[in-house]
Parts: sequence; structure tokens; C-alpha cells
Amino acid sequence: MTTLPARDLKLYRFESPKSAHVHELPLAHKGAWKALERHFRDQGRRFDLHQLFAGHGQRGEIFTAEGAGVYLDYSKNLVNAETMILLVQLARECALPQRIEAMFSGEKINNTEHRSVLHTALRMPPNSRLEVDGEDLMPQVQEVRRHMGEFAEQVRTGAWLGHTGKPIRHVVNIGIGGSDLGPMMAYEALRHYSQREIHFHFLSDVDGAAFAETVRELPADETLFIVCSKTFTTLETITNACTARDWLIAQLGEEGAVARHFAAVTTNIEQAQKFGIDPANMFGFWDWVGGRYSMTSAIGLSTMIAIGAAQFEEMLSGFHAMDEHFRKTPLENNLPALLGLLTVWYTNFFGARTQAVLPYSQYLKRMPSYLQQLTMESNGKHTTVDGDTVAYQTSPVYWGDNGINGQHSFYQLLHQGTQIVPCDFIGFCKPLEQIGNQHDLLMANLFAQSEALAFGKSAAEVRLENTPEELVPHRVFEGNRPSNTILIDRLTPHSLGALVALYEHSVFTQGVIWNVDSFDQWGVELGKALAKQTASQLADSSLPLRHDSSTNALIRRYRGCRSE
Ligand code: F6P
Repeated sequence: MTTLPARDLKLYRFESPKSAHVHELPLAHKGAWKALERHFRDQGRRFDLHQLFAGHGQRGEIFTAEGAGVYLDYSKNLVNAETMILLVQLARECALPQRIEAMFSGEKINNTEHRSVLHTALRMPPNSRLEVDGEDLMPQVQEVRRHMGEFAEQVRTGAWLGHTGKPIRHVVNIGIGGSDLGPMMAYEALRHYSQREIHFHFLSDVDGAAFAETVRELPADETLFIVCSKTFTTLETITNACTARDWLIAQLGEEGAVARHFAAVTTNIEQAQKFGIDPANMFGFWDWVGGRYSMTSAIGLSTMIAIGAAQFEEMLSGFHAMDEHFRKTPLENNLPALLGLLTVWYTNFFGARTQAVLPYSQYLKRMPSYLQQLTMESNGKHTTVDGDTVAYQTSPVYWGDNGINGQHSFYQLLHQGTQIVPCDFIGFCKPLEQIGNQHDLLMANLFAQSEALAFGKSAAEVRLENTPEELVPHRVFEGNRPSNTILIDRLTPHSLGALVALYEHSVFTQGVIWNVDSFDQWGVELGKALAKQTASQLADSSLPLRHDSSTNALIRRYRGCRSE
């Protein structure tokens, strides 16, 4: 565990602001920010991991933190104890502890939409209470969970019969963004624990090919569609849901079949009813759950059908364990806070533009896509909560892939490219499938990559290998490339929950420092509105085109080409 010297802590103690809502000073005027700028100028930009490790024999054990079953080694970062003290101080000056409390207690911290942010309530244990505006939210949360459990169990046991009396063997989740990425990531991650007699499909793209390929082999009378949409107005989802309904009716020959083959998860019960879904198969949630934070709401229905209600509860308990860790652990040892602050350090001081996430687990192959929405839809903002334009960079581009596959494609750039790309390595000590020594081989690669990135290989070392002189510069690894290693005992529903919550709260931490609303997503609206207008112009070629000359020409070309 990190123990920062008390003497140093005192040196950097600044007052925390009282208000949980606003930054009292712009970020760049804060004492800790200015101290970080000086620290970066005087030391940080020249940090050398060789020296940092040489100067502190226990660094690999000290620059670590642990909680909720997750071990974080952040020693291979370009930081020293002073950096960490200053980053933590910055968090205090930005009122992170107060903001955490404000979120957990239901204050309307999503200020542009005037909403509470309470995805953490979804994972609270049964029998807990959470009063917001005089109302205990937990009975509704528990009731939806109970309903989900009942429905999931019926589908899993084959008691839920389709229109022709057959049990369900295929579940198609229709949704996009947070109504797709969470369930899909969780299904892939927890496949080991899933009911193998039922097959899961995820339909998000409005490209007709996605629908056609999804249903090609599906027996309609054994298929359940779960339409997931917080708003129930998302064009892609509603279009796919309508196509699925038409397909089902055509296959089974009766409109009445819809009731046994469609369920809906939404906050917009009225629209779902209009669509024709039986209210008994509807699962609600609330506007205080953001789409990208919704995998523990009823949006997780497909996950629950896959792994069962008991294991779903375990996943929730993993989320909750990390929630509690985030809420109660001092920032110095608080995993999400540390992870978020390190991202701020690289983004705002080293000028890093991207952050790689590299799971060494086949089961986590969808984790990077999931994290892309979580991180970038949350913090890809240029306006502060007060409506001012930020004077600093906000979210980096998150990207990544299964680490082993990445090694044979993009790691070249990580090792020898010209930009700094902080990496998160994620691995598990125990495999879910023990096949020979394959897991050791997998993990050896993870450890080797973080070591190679950090310490590289000097020209002298390359020469010692009798390398021809002209190849020496090509074979040198500068090293000094930062990474975190997240090590977990085993991939289970519980540990997946803790891991996802770790990133959720890291995103929250970043948003608090950058003073942005991490829970709205106005940036997706313009494209949606233009697409609607353009869709009518594609449907009716007589409609005039009033776009820019490029868009007009492209549409004319498309119209011409389509009608050939
Ligand atoms: O367009 C972005 C977005 O609003 C996401 O925030 C959301 O997860 C996704 O679309 C899907 O929205 P819905 O669940 O309302 O269909």
C-alpha cells in the first residue's frame, strides 16, 4: 500500500473548498495545479523509470494500492511520491471527496440535465435504504431486480414458452451505445459462467446486413428479442425492433406472437407499450441511470438470463465493493482516484492524447469498446459545468484490444513510436480454462510487455548482442513508457463488477478535476438531427438539398447511384 511520508503530506496541505458543486477557482489557478506545473517543469518531464526504480528499492511494492479484490501496480508510471501527493492534493482542491459524497447521496450533479447520478444505487445490497428527496429509492430498484430474476429464471429453465410452445434458445439484445456495449461486454466476459443451451446475439447497427446476419439461422419460435433503450426513441434501436417484429410475425404468421417473443427495458414505458410490448415483459429504470452506466440496471437482463440471478447478484456485489472502496478509502490509496489522477497527469502535463487498455484475457475482448463509450462520452467535453470553455485538454482517446493480439499489431508503436501512450494492462492470476501452461505463457507476456515498455533496451545492450552497427538504432528501445498493471485473482462476476466500477469512478475523478459534466452527452445530438433530415432527403429525391456543397454532391451521387 502507498504510504506517503507525513512530513511531505503536511508540506502540501491546502484547504479543500466547502462547496461540492463548483470549482471555486479555475483549474489553472489552483495551488496544486500550479505546484504540479512547477513539479513537471523541474522534475516530472525528465523522470526516468530506471532512476526512479534505482532510487527506491521497494518502489514496485509501494506504488501500489488494493481494494475490492483488485490490485493496482502504478509503480511503472512517470511519478514520484511528490507527484502523487500533489495529484491527491489537486483532487482535494477540486473537492473530489465532496463530489463523491454528492453523487452517492443523490444530489443532482448532472447539472445540464438536472438529474441525480445514482447508478451506484443499482448495486446496493438488498434491504439497504437510499432516500432522495424524501423517497427511499430502493424498493423500486429491488422490485425491478426481482421481476428480472423471475423472468430470467423462466427463460433459463425453459418454463417461458414461445408462441408455438417451444422454450427459448436464442436471445437477441436490440440496443445501441450503453444499451448494447455493457450487456455485450458482460456476456463475453462472463461466458464461462453462462447457460450454454441459450445463445446470445447483440444487434445494434441499423445496417440491414446486421439484422439479416443475426436472424439468418434463428428459429423465430425459439427466439426472444429484448429491446433495450433508455429513451425508446433511438432511431437505430426502434428501426431494428420494428424490423424484428415484422420478421417474427412473418415467420410465425400471427401478430399475437409478439407477446411471447419480445421484452423491453426502458425508462419510457409509454412508448414501449405503444410499440406493442406486453407490460408484463417490461422492465423499467430511471433517468438517474446514464446509458453508459446502465449495465447493472434492467439493461443487464440479457446478462442475467446468461448467468442467472444469483451470479448477477455477485456481479452487483463486486460493483458495490468498488463503490464502497471509492467512497470510503482515503484518496492516497483509492484505486479509481489514483487511476483517474494518473490520466490527468499524462493528459495535462505530458500532453498524452490517448490511453491504451490492454486486457490479457480473451473473455475481456470487448472491454476496450465498452470503455470507449464510458470514458469518451463522459469526459469528451470542452465546456465546464459552469458553461465556460476549458483551457486544458480533457478526455484522451481510449482504445485497445486483447493484449496478446495487440502485441502482434500495434505494440510496435507503443515501444518505438513517437508519442507517449500510457497503458493499462489487465490480467488474472488464475485462469478459467487451465490448458497446459497456456495461462503462464499469457501472463508472462503481460509482465514482459510492461517491463519492456518501462525499461527498454539501450544501445550498449544492443551492441553486446553483436548487432551490426547499422541496425543498432533500429533495435534500441528507449523505454520510459508508462503503464499501470491491474491484477485480479480470477475473472468472476464479482471481479468483473469491481473492474468496471473501477473505471466508472476513474472517469468520475477525471471529470471532477476537469470540471465537466461527465453524465450528459450533448455532443451526439447534432449528427442525429442532421441524419433525420438527410434520411427524408434520401427517401424523397424531390426534396431540395440545402447542405454545404460537399454534402449536397455526395447525396446527389448516392441518389444517382442507388437508382441505377
Ligand atoms: O447517442 C448516444 C446515446 O444517447 C448513448 O448515451 C446511449 O447509451 C445510446 O445513445 C442509446 O440510447 P438509448 O438507450 O436511449 O436507446
